[in-house]
Amino acid sequence: MIEILNINKSYNNKVKAVDNLTISIPDGEIIGFLGPNGAGKTTTIKLLTGILNADSGVIRINGLDINEKPVEVKKQFGFVPDSPDMFLRLKGIEYLNFMADMYDVSTTDRKARIDELADKFEMTSSLSAKIQSYSHGMRQKIIIIGALIHDPLVWILDEPMTGLDPKSSFLLKEIMREYAQKNRTVFFSTHILEVAEKICYRVAIINKGKLISFCTIEELREQFKGNESLEKMFLELTEETE
Ligand SMILES: Nc1ncnc2c1ncn2[C@@H]1O[C@H](COP(=O)(O)OP(=O)(O)OP(=O)(O)O)[C@@H](O)[C@H]1O
Ligand SMILES: [Mg+2]
Repeated sequence: MIEILNINKSYNNKVKAVDNLTISIPDGEIIGFLGPNGAGKTTTIKLLTGILNADSGVIRINGLDINEKPVEVKKQFGFVPDSPDMFLRLKGIEYLNFMADMYDVSTTDRKARIDELADKFEMTSSLSAKIQSYSHGMRQKIIIIGALIHDPLVWILDEPMTGLDPKSSFLLKEIMREYAQKNRTVFFSTHILEVAEKICYRVAIINKGKLISFCTIEELREQFKGNESLEKMFLELTEETE
């Protein structure tokens, strides 16, 4: 479970990137985090993952406060950042072993997870090559595998579909669904409204750092009667707050 309570974040005391944001996400839910460019999605995710500190407010993951127990909190989640261009000098397998070491994953468990996920994402034959030599989508896939290596209770992803081919994107959606079915929590930002519509029960929509809607797709439809697509509802909602 993720609890974001009244968090605020400004950059350089100027741009208010996150403005008094409150969202609670129970176990077993996949929440899509939507909003226009510059709305504050990545900033919120960086606060949630402890990459940035909030100016004020409280963040708890599985009941643990990120300020009080930063390391314990980090063990709770797997994180896929918006750019996969990291650890380029490592080979894929070295990166996965590094992640497994960081999270104290046993040799047996890591082998089983690497075998299964690399096979699913068709990365097995690329594991011995350096990440530098990977395409964007392959880098994205190795980061996704690395984020799942410790079988986390919470999964946080920032625009994870970017650069994935249709097969990998389908697979990722399947894994997210399986995750939620195991009563885990998935929180991900996306610009692909069809993805949100397909796999999310609820979506959180943010604009200019403020939460403007947090409800089920059905409730959104009810609110915007006559608008059959999430795209139209999204445009109306975000335009209203301009
Ligand atoms: N490092 C930074 N320094 C200064 N301002 C920043 C920084 N990072 C983000 N911002 C500002 O904070 C606001 C929110 O940016 P953020 O990256 O969180 O948006 P986003 O919703 O993730 O957008 P996108 O959909 O383009 O990824 C924007 O106004 C942006 O200019
Ligand atoms: Mg972003």
